[in-house]
Amino acid sequence: MDTKKLHPHFQEVLWDEATIDKRISELATWVDETYKDSKDLILVGVLKGCIPFLAKLSAKVTKDHSIDFIIASSYGGTAKSSGSVKIVLDLASDISGKDVLIVEDIIESGITINKISELLHTRNARSIRVMTLIDKPFRKVEFKPDVTGFLLTQKKFLVGFGLDYFEKLRNLPYVGVFNLDYLEHEIYKPKK
Ligand code: IMP
Ligand code: MG
Repeated sequence: MDTKKLHPHFQEVLWDEATIDKRISELATWVDETYKDSKDLILVGVLKGCIPFLAKLSAKVTKDHSIDFIIASSYGGTAKSSGSVKIVLDLASDISGKDVLIVEDIIESGITINKISELLHTRNARSIRVMTLIDKPFRKVEFKPDVTGFLLTQKKFLVGFGLDYFEKLRNLPYVGVFNLDYLEHEIYKPKK
């Protein structure tokens, strides 16, 4: 990729647009195969990080499906996990009897997805599976996604393609490592 175009708040790009696109095509094939006999498939995106991922995935999946969203707050806009998770917005749909695929941007400690998964498991879905674009497996609670786009074994803070730093950088079409020189940057300073 043309590094001159790289956003200054990125230290390096890990997965560029073409690489992400190709992997999402493979994930869409996984969805079509896994749910070929499903009568009612619903993709549940975990906002807001799931947006670019879910949009691309949903467009590539050929199996009929609906989509819905859930918002869980965990990081609170900082580069560290707070450890406590709140469901800020619940699903609009009833998932009983449906095949639910939760679509996450990234799993790290497992705390967020564990909380969402526990909640949805109380609602009599036919099945519940979890797909994450990125797994950064530094778990505080045990959690294994059913399918993963990319695995990152280094504890780096990532931004781009849905992943944010203080709500910014989600719009970039690639995923990369946040440039820590900008941690104290004025526009990203947490509001006190
Ligand atoms: P967990 O609860 O530690 O598994 O973190 C899950 C959530 O934290 C994700 O849904 C993201 O919103 C956020 N998160 C975790 N790692 C990163 C990262 O490297 N960059 C941006 N957000 C992250
Ligand atoms: Mg998320």
